[in-house]
Amino acid sequence: MLTLNGQFNINPSVVRGDKSISHRALILASIANGKSVIKNLPYSRDVMATVDCLRTLGAKIVLDDNTATVEPIKGVKNNVTLNCQNSGTTARLLAGLVAGLGVRAKFIGDGSLMKRPMDRVLKPLTQLGANFCKDENCLFESLGGKLNGKVIYSEVDSAQVKSAVLIAGLFADGQTTYVEQTHTRNHTELMMDVMGADISVNGLSVTVGKSTLNCLNTDIPCDLSSTAFLACAALICHKPTVFKNVLLNDRRTGFLKILKASGANIRCDCVRVCNGEKVGDILVETSNLTPLFASYADVCDSIDELPVLAAVALTVKGKHVFENVCELKYKESNRIQAIIDTAKACNQQAVFDGTNLTLTSDGILPKYPRFTSYNDHRMAMAQTVLCLACGGGSIDETPFDVSCAEFCQALGLNEYNFGLIGCDVKNSRSPLLMEHLANCANITCRYDLIQLNCDVTDDDILKVIHSHDGLNITMPFKARAASLLNADDISVNTVGKSIRPQSTDGYGIVKALTSSNIDFANKPLWIVGAGGASVACIETLLKYGCKMQVINRTQSHADMLTQKYGLSTNITEPYGILSFVPECQFEQNIKLPDSCKFVLVSAYKGQSRLKEQALRRGLMYIDGLKMLYHQGAKSFALWTGTDIQDDYEHFERFVKSCNIG
Ligand code: S3P
Repeated sequence: MLTLNGQFNINPSVVRGDKSISHRALILASIANGKSVIKNLPYSRDVMATVDCLRTLGAKIVLDDNTATVEPIKGVKNNVTLNCQNSGTTARLLAGLVAGLGVRAKFIGDGSLMKRPMDRVLKPLTQLGANFCKDENCLFESLGGKLNGKVIYSEVDSAQVKSAVLIAGLFADGQTTYVEQTHTRNHTELMMDVMGADISVNGLSVTVGKSTLNCLNTDIPCDLSSTAFLACAALICHKPTVFKNVLLNDRRTGFLKILKASGANIRCDCVRVCNGEKVGDILVETSNLTPLFASYADVCDSIDELPVLAAVALTVKGKHVFENVCELKYKESNRIQAIIDTAKACNQQAVFDGTNLTLTSDGILPKYPRFTSYNDHRMAMAQTVLCLACGGGSIDETPFDVSCAEFCQALGLNEYNFGLIGCDVKNSRSPLLMEHLANCANITCRYDLIQLNCDVTDDDILKVIHSHDGLNITMPFKARAASLLNADDISVNTVGKSIRPQSTDGYGIVKALTSSNIDFANKPLWIVGAGGASVACIETLLKYGCKMQVINRTQSHADMLTQKYGLSTNITEPYGILSFVPECQFEQNIKLPDSCKFVLVSAYKGQSRLKEQALRRGLMYIDGLKMLYHQGAKSFALWTGTDIQDDYEHFERFVKSCNIG
């Protein structure tokens, strides 16, 4: 969860080299006739996936200070598994390389990549003589085969498919020609030409012959796509900015054309050609935009920037049309659906008619929109731009590092980095709570859910702790973190830079009780459950003179606590009950004694019989969400120095408005 307060300050110089060019430089350098040096390589996850796969195939790649030194593959490795992670470009371009090298390789990837179409690349490579098979555990498996050059007619407008065919063509006997229906990005052709391949371009057709490539010495210009997102932020938030040394390939600058046509004051300067590619500066100045229109050719030339163009459109009153955006369905997420949902989160409308996408906006930005990114880096980046335009907002998942690890830095966000570790954290409400608190405190922060296996090493726990400004810790790591950090408390739920590791659980319970006007001091109580949360409660309430009896399914566990804390075993008339067990048969069988004046149930999801009984009898009922609120607000105050005054009701309303039960 990333919560933004809307403040930002663009710092374009931190953006690294273009991702599309980086993939190609690494791949072609791996089959060149000597050592290549590639400068300004981005350490984004996609590019690192290509590095890892090429190393697996036998290339020697040394990375140092964003420079890659590549020694080409000698004695290619056979029968390997190539993990392409989230990167479609890695999978599709390497399909061409592996076909050319004639080796067996299994291609795998993450959940998103596994859903993306691969036949588009396997079919033309098969036409050249490559063999592939597929099963549900992999994207595809390449089985080798002798390649012969052919004329291949494009069936989908895709630079990845064209590139795969051209790379395979470097190894095929005879000439391989690829004929496009529409121009797509031409980085592969340009780089092959610079590296001395036998390649020629004639209109929409590219022909390559069997070639040996010379090694490559290049300094990759800044990433055009990442820059586009920053430029759009500059444009709609009226922050004139200069982006220097950016890739300006005509097949990539569709977004500039579309924006200029709708009145954007954007121009390019110092344009020159470096290693076959157009490079220059982009200057964004204050502008007033009219509705956006993108023809199909423009759509092809801005395919990765459409999410941010849609974001810009949502801020401009009128009807915006993007022609034939069908390919967006097959990106890291179904970006058509993601854009429709993004528009909805901004109270605007996006309609896809099967071909064109039309956005209609009244130009009025919502206050604090909440976005779902489908874990898609470009959707998350576009939504970040919208949050900035709206003066604040939040995004559930922000995998910026897939393409631009330095995105937040480039926006000068300076966000706090918080999170929760535990072995089952996926249903936690803490991200929602921290989003609410950050919003109230007007700060920018992220709150990650970090799921760790119970048998994780101490070192790994410490690594996570030290890489965050603040962390909450939940079961089963509370006691372990306490001992690893030499805490005074035996169990901690809050750690952070320059604060003492401590538990705010007890504080949360007491605050939940006192803010509900419950006079619990010195009273007899039942504590249901004997786990960590019960222990935290017992330790806290002992300080208030409470007499407690533990009610637990496994009696021996209750006995242990009774002995350890000198608790009672014969409380028949408890003043209140505090339950720390999830809904279960045992909990359902507990009958509320007549003496009981209040019930607190820590589990804030699912059903609870104790809750039902309490409500039926009109007793005071304290929800677990209230405890969560108070302990979390305390952690937040420790981390940020901002104490959000007790406004649990406001948070409760926020949770309800989020419609998540
Ligand atoms: C890319 C081509 C485009 C683009 C992708 C990168 C490339 O995909 O969306 O992010 O580097 O060749 P398609 O070829 O599927 O259009």
